[in-house]
Amino acid sequence: MKATRLLAVLSVLGIVAPTWVAAYPGGTPDFQTDAIPYCAPCHSSTDESALAGSGERAGKEVADRKHIATILAGEGAYGKLSEEERQTLASHIKAVDANAKVTVEFPPQVAKGETFQVTVKVTGGAGPVVGIALVDRAHRWYARSASQVGWEIAGTPTIIGPSGSPQTDWIEKRPERFGRNLSFVNITGVESDAPSRAWSKSKVIFTLKAPDKAGELPLVAAYFYGTEKASPLGYEIHPIYGKLIRGTYTGKSGRVKFSSAHVISVR
Ligand code: HEC
Repeated sequence: MKATRLLAVLSVLGIVAPTWVAAYPGGTPDFQTDAIPYCAPCHSSTDESALAGSGERAGKEVADRKHIATILAGEGAYGKLSEEERQTLASHIKAVDANAKVTVEFPPQVAKGETFQVTVKVTGGAGPVVGIALVDRAHRWYARSASQVGWEIAGTPTIIGPSGSPQTDWIEKRPERFGRNLSFVNITGVESDAPSRAWSKSKVIFTLKAPDKAGELPLVAAYFYGTEKASPLGYEIHPIYGKLIRGTYTGKSGRVKFSSAHVISVR
């Protein structure tokens, strides 16, 4: 067996966690680009409508079936927990989902060519990272980046972490000459705890420019977050790699949740 393959197998088994495996639980530390929801097939949905039009698959993608049912059934590493612990973990995870919120604030109407601000506010998510993308529709497979439907991302987004301070480390990994006007960002320093019902809050302020012709343009925020690290039963501490989630890297404990589907009038 080749070394890389062996590492992959061991990491799936939760035996080792090479740093590259931490790239999804842990967000996307190295992808400073316009990510959109289809990139996260492992994640579960909180709402079946996020896969509307994909037939039976839509129902299979919801967290209850894709993730929580595997915990209650004791699949994989969940089998190491007692029946009661599995119930508790499931209830913690449901609390994370119920308290993961994403809203978008924007002017109801903008002038053609106007530059304006859009603030995306998020609550919860297990942490240590959450992700936000501006897209055109609340759909896991069909959403496009907001910048493809007429909105120009006109500046570097301002990321305000849970401590209330601006964060620049993640976005500044992208060379300035490539432009840092991204429609997707990671927020770091997020820490939620389901048993004590403590939920982080953060926000991102995007600067958008309206197109030069009038119309009604859609705008939706996609929220990427994890769930298991918010429950003491959802992870084990590894001496080198820290919190290793029980569902592992290929588990279904990530989520994609959407804000309401908004439309902004350009006049
Ligand atoms: C191989 C499966 C997989 C893929 C593909 C994947 N993710 Fe995830 N992701 C996960 C898991 C598992 C978690 C949940 C961690 C937890 O439960 O605490 C997660 C969590 C996250 C988080 C929150 C970080 C954290 O530690 O909780 C972000 C942000 C994220 N993913 C973004 C993305 C984006 C953007 C993409 C596409 C580029 C993507 N993911 C693709 C599995 C995946």
